[in-house]
Amino acid sequence: AKQSAMNSPLELAPDSWAPGNGPDPLIQHNGGRIGASVSRVDGGPKVRGAAPFAAEFALDDMVYAALVFSTIAKGRIATLDTTVAEAAPGVVLVMTHRNAPRMRPMPLFGTSEKAAGADSLPIMQDDRVRWNGQAVAVVLAETREQADHAASMIRVTYETEPATTSFEQAKANGTETAHLFGHDVHIEIGDAEAALAAAHVSVDATYRTPYQNHNAIEPHATTVAWHSDELVMHDASQLVGHQAWSLAHIFGIEEEQVRVTAPYVGGAFGGKGLWSHQVLAAAAAKLADRPVRLALSREGVYRLVGGRARTEQRVAIGAGADGRFDAIIHTGTAVSGRDKAAPEAFAFPTQSSYAAGSFQIDVQLAYQDMVTNTTMRAPGEAVGSFAIESAVDEVAVALGMDPIELRIRNEPDNDPITGRPFSSRHLVEAWRAGAERFGWAKRNPTPGTVRDGEWLVGMGCAAATHLYVRQPGGAARITLTSDGNVTVDVAAHDAGMGTATAQGQVIAERLGLEPEQVSFRFADSRMPGLVAALGSSQTVTVGAAVAAAQRVLVAELLKLVGHDSPLAGLTTEQVGVLDGGLAKLDEPARHESYTSILAGAGRDEIAVEASAPPPVEMMNWSMHSYGAMFCEVRVNGVTGETRVSRFLGSMDCGRVLNPKTATSQFRGGIIMGLGLALTEQTHFDERKGRIMNPSLAEYHLPVHMDVPEIDVIWTGIPDPHTPMGARGIGELSITGTGAAIANAIFNATGKRIRDLPITPDKLM
Ligand code: MOS
Repeated sequence: AKQSAMNSPLELAPDSWAPGNGPDPLIQHNGGRIGASVSRVDGGPKVRGAAPFAAEFALDDMVYAALVFSTIAKGRIATLDTTVAEAAPGVVLVMTHRNAPRMRPMPLFGTSEKAAGADSLPIMQDDRVRWNGQAVAVVLAETREQADHAASMIRVTYETEPATTSFEQAKANGTETAHLFGHDVHIEIGDAEAALAAAHVSVDATYRTPYQNHNAIEPHATTVAWHSDELVMHDASQLVGHQAWSLAHIFGIEEEQVRVTAPYVGGAFGGKGLWSHQVLAAAAAKLADRPVRLALSREGVYRLVGGRARTEQRVAIGAGADGRFDAIIHTGTAVSGRDKAAPEAFAFPTQSSYAAGSFQIDVQLAYQDMVTNTTMRAPGEAVGSFAIESAVDEVAVALGMDPIELRIRNEPDNDPITGRPFSSRHLVEAWRAGAERFGWAKRNPTPGTVRDGEWLVGMGCAAATHLYVRQPGGAARITLTSDGNVTVDVAAHDAGMGTATAQGQVIAERLGLEPEQVSFRFADSRMPGLVAALGSSQTVTVGAAVAAAQRVLVAELLKLVGHDSPLAGLTTEQVGVLDGGLAKLDEPARHESYTSILAGAGRDEIAVEASAPPPVEMMNWSMHSYGAMFCEVRVNGVTGETRVSRFLGSMDCGRVLNPKTATSQFRGGIIMGLGLALTEQTHFDERKGRIMNPSLAEYHLPVHMDVPEIDVIWTGIPDPHTPMGARGIGELSITGTGAAIANAIFNATGKRIRDLPITPDKLM
């Protein structure tokens, strides 16, 4: 079967993809390795315990770190007694602001090409406390237990200063317009307030979403060593290249003197960037002149790593009797830390979802003294889609119209804000296919009428959407050896989403090889490419780089072919890959294997490196992935408990490279959306600015008992303007899910809950 899949002439892949060239040639054939349900290549090593995570690198002479966290939100350290700790068994060093090396602040992510920092606050450089939970001391000891014990004996007193720790106070202090991708998040088209006032029906409501914390299964950890002036960091990271440059900047050394690796990462979701703990570990290792392992406790993750910001959103929609939207208003305020990088720009989904006669969009930031928030799976879109997609459901109720038909009636022809054409948008097909599969026609539109004993049963739906991004830093090195195998190196990441697996398929197809002939190496800052595992953008970023490098490889191979080769005299435009070699496009019998070409030239290997073309497709088109999300809930009329009983995601995300890993991504996003809708909430004490539930015992994530069988389908329509026809899938399915659940709860109970999470008390 493998052989027959390879020999089809359609497998002759012309060797280039570049934005503007039209459809990626790879999308025109279907017998290859892309599209196969390949199991995760990292599955075996993980199950066997053979996958080294960041806290599992054992270095000679290594010491273990423990941290002490501040207990006030703002002020200064008055006294800091480390003498007992320093005398404790096994203690090597206690580092505080008094002896920490001088370091620059983290360069704030987004402020320059390679900046990785989540905030730009000083790290242990003075006696200031800037949030409740900030690290004020690092203990290094021979064992983790000794370090933890000694840390517990450090005594700190503080002089407190007034801090802004309540949302109302933060808003009263004055807000600033959020700034993202070089623009203020503020858009006005027409007079939306006037159109709203004049509309046949209108909805005008406030939606609230809470703080949420990152809870990857692997807590953040790092193992660091200095080799004279060179820093090596094995980290749980989703941006090794950015981090290496940023650490060099912080410590005043050259980028080449820092190496960051992250071969296995146990979930990232936007939280595994550069935070203070990696900087502290490197500083302490320098001071002690010994390698350091710093593994944050679960509480440590809550104290040092920010999550999703709290929001308060107004969504107002005015519609005509025919359902067409005259006005969409999406405004409000998100909490933000100071000197930070990631505004919770919740109005994102509203900027491309629906046609309307007028728009008003505005995101304000209110500053609080707290650990800075960061990107968290579909930042902005996850909580923004809850608001807009709940409001659309409310309009459907007000009009007495089916919510799917209402959405389809307002489907835009072009991007409603920029006017650009969509690169590929088949959301209507996704709605139709999903409605059919889910049995939407059986839904009773009258709320609170379907009962099963003490359970109220309802169905709801919502649209999902996520921006397409291809990063500008994509680059790849291909090394082809005389045995016909290839190794591809890209400084990309696999935090469990299947990068290594899918890219193995991409490379096999690009080069006409069997999957087992391909090695994909990644997550080492010394490799080519500046690629972050962010924004659901890694797959196309790497895929475009592989395509570019393959093009160079073909050109180099053609220079090596002998005069008697069947390929002699051919140009790159005339050949494609076939069966572990190259062949003339219109005459596949003129074929020579890679092995033969290299042997003929007396070469053991050939290595090429290339950068992907700039992502100009993003300027020419409005590019997004979409989904139609369907939910059935059962709400207990006695206890208020909500059980999601069925869920379907009907996605439109371009071409799916690996159905198995894609399905897992979608299910994972939907499960996170289930947590967003029903259980997840950081309890933030507004008096003290302290997170009160920094543990999995009290911060409620969905567990298996909470998750039904989740059905996933997709249109599978390739996007003609992206590498491989693919768009992003990693963050898409958390969007829309919260609203689909809330809308189903409304259908079940008649109760419209606009304040997440929808806990039982809100339904009683
Ligand atoms: Mo995602 S929040 O861009 O890792």
